[in-house]
Amino acid sequence: MPEQQIRHCRRNQKKLELAEQILDYSNRNLEISMEILMGGRKEIEPLAMEQAENSAAIAGLLQEMREYVEGEGDEERDLLEAAGAQWSRTLNYAQPLEPRMEGQRRFDTAAATANVILPHLLDHNSWKAFVHFLRAQADGSGTAENGNRDLTTRTRQLVRTHQEMKSAVAERKRMAERLSQLASIIELSTDAIVIYTLDGTIVSWNTGAEGVYGYSANEVLGRPRSVLSPPDQPDDLPATVATLKRGERIQRYETVHMRKGGKRIDVSMTMSPVKDGNDEMVGAAAITRDISDRKLLEKQLRQAQRMEALGQLSGGIAHDFNNLLSVIGGYCELLEPELPPDGVLHRNCEQIKKAGEKAAGLTRQLLAFTRQQVLEPRVLDLNAVVLDLEKMLNRVIGEDIELRTSLDRSLAAVKADRGQIEQVIMNLVVNARDAMPNGGRLTVQTANVVVDESFTRRHHPQAPGAYVRLSVTDTGVGMDTETQTRIFEPFFTTKEVGKGTGLGLSTVYGVIRQSGGHIWVDSQLGRGSAFEVYLPMVQESARHERSSAGADGATGGTETILLVEDEDALRELTRELLAGSGYRVLEASSPEKAIEAARNYRGPIHLLLTDVVMPRMSGPRLAQSLEAIRPEMQVVYMSGYMGFRQSQLPEPDAILLAKPFKREALLRKLREALALNLEGAGRTGAGRAKADPSSFARMRICGQTSS
Ligand SMILES: Nc1ncnc2c1ncn2[C@@H]1O[C@H](COP(=O)(O)OP(=O)(O)OP(=O)(O)O)[C@@H](O)[C@H]1O
Ligand SMILES: [Mg+2]
Repeated sequence: MPEQQIRHCRRNQKKLELAEQILDYSNRNLEISMEILMGGRKEIEPLAMEQAENSAAIAGLLQEMREYVEGEGDEERDLLEAAGAQWSRTLNYAQPLEPRMEGQRRFDTAAATANVILPHLLDHNSWKAFVHFLRAQADGSGTAENGNRDLTTRTRQLVRTHQEMKSAVAERKRMAERLSQLASIIELSTDAIVIYTLDGTIVSWNTGAEGVYGYSANEVLGRPRSVLSPPDQPDDLPATVATLKRGERIQRYETVHMRKGGKRIDVSMTMSPVKDGNDEMVGAAAITRDISDRKLLEKQLRQAQRMEALGQLSGGIAHDFNNLLSVIGGYCELLEPELPPDGVLHRNCEQIKKAGEKAAGLTRQLLAFTRQQVLEPRVLDLNAVVLDLEKMLNRVIGEDIELRTSLDRSLAAVKADRGQIEQVIMNLVVNARDAMPNGGRLTVQTANVVVDESFTRRHHPQAPGAYVRLSVTDTGVGMDTETQTRIFEPFFTTKEVGKGTGLGLSTVYGVIRQSGGHIWVDSQLGRGSAFEVYLPMVQESARHERSSAGADGATGGTETILLVEDEDALRELTRELLAGSGYRVLEASSPEKAIEAARNYRGPIHLLLTDVVMPRMSGPRLAQSLEAIRPEMQVVYMSGYMGFRQSQLPEPDAILLAKPFKREALLRKLREALALNLEGAGRTGAGRAKADPSSFARMRICGQTSS
């Protein structure tokens, strides 16, 4: 055998040896992968290490082979590269098995078999084909020119087929991964993703759907989709299917669905067709979101806006009415003593006065609703208020209704006007009584509560925090939702004409809101109602005191009073009341005229009695500008309303007389203010105190108890 041929044979032999060693290592690595996969009792880590070492050995051997093949023809080099390309990535085989190595429970053996063992096997077989090729070369069967070419072609084909199969496996793996990603998106979605067949049978139900509807998959799969619709709602499936069949999408379609247990929820749905392999529509997929919270907020916002508008309207009316009613009532008071006590005129005058007082009462309620009432907030113990009222409440509700009180012994204090809170409780209790014409149970309850965001999300605009809750619950006729949205509006009543004014709850609403609190109602037709009042907790503790309606003898005086009121009739009346009680009155119909009068009058002016809201200059501004020339003068403001602009706010310590006022209230207030003058005489300058301008709480008020 010629020298050259012998070298050729040796080289072939050497290549074959190297290739067979690689095959052995590959074989062993396959075994290792199988062992790891089957999860036998063996420790996984040494196996993985051995596999890595084998892979490194393969890489070394391959490099050595490349050097041998260097001198050979292109075809053999190509074959080696095609069959051996994968060995540079051999370490990757172990990677998908890592979860198994880390002992994870959610390891998918079937997927690992497809994704790890199969590609490994295909690579291994490619190499095996190459080894066959080398073997044929070495034993001489492939030496003839034709035979060799034939073998090369077949080997290349084999290797290619293996690699193609491997790509297909990889593609399937990618698809499977995408599908599993999609599946986890569907599973993790908080939206309900539900698939229906064309006849409406539920065939797919994700975890989000369990959350939205409250049914588990087991409970609904195979059932008709009508289980999710309220019974009174027409079936829209045929229309939906027709729309989808036309190729139109249904996006963010809002409707009402029903949870397990019958609770209605507002939902927004997006629907798309589900098609089979032939592009035929076989069902519909619905992505449904529960938008009940959003709907509720929108409703509350709309309601709040309507209440705001109503408030402004009623505020304006009530303000003007106050002045007119002061005039009517006041003139009656002046007229009455002049008339023969047993005569018709006296009785007529009495009637006018009564009607005026009734109207004043209504106006006050309207003002309460607008939150512009003159309030006297104090630190209060609601339990004490309820206990003091209990006897009267029992009388009001009658014998057929059982009154239960459940008062939290450790109840925190609140800050509110005691008289107004009594009014709130009375109104709620009387409403409850009217809702139980055949008797029932009425519960008044107090509790400390901490309100969190999950609550405030459904109760706009209440803020999270610590509150004292007062609830009044009845077992009466209840209300439908339509009624519930309107009950706080002034003049809304369902009672027959003459039975209710519809101002009860609007007063309650205004008082509570003006006190920084909130009121909510929960009711169902035929199932009773629960009204819950939340007032912010305060840290101070309450002093126990009864409401101060005391009216000690109000007398007149002889001091000089500067009266400023732009409303002519009211000014004239007040002048008469004052003059009739002995006072000397300087009268001005505007702030400008008042300044002029104060300048020109020679004697002392003891008191300025002025309206708060006047054109061009407010009462407080007037008082300020008179301070320089009349430092000794006390000030009493008259106002029926607290909706002042910031620039019109009286001083925090100012003395305020609520309109409409009665003669007695006016006189009492004047004496109170003039007494300060006496006190102040010992001090320097006048007795007008200055204090924190943010506090309205300290205003002294009177005149509210008339009616
Ligand atoms: N506890 C309740 N149960 C059922 N419906 C109620 C209850 N409280 C109030 N309502 C409804 O709210 C409406 C308004 O109540 P509101 O107190 O404002 O006025 P009213 O009671 O009708 O009249 P008023 O209180 O001025 O005499 C009532 O007419 C009634 O329809
Ligand atoms: Mg009422």
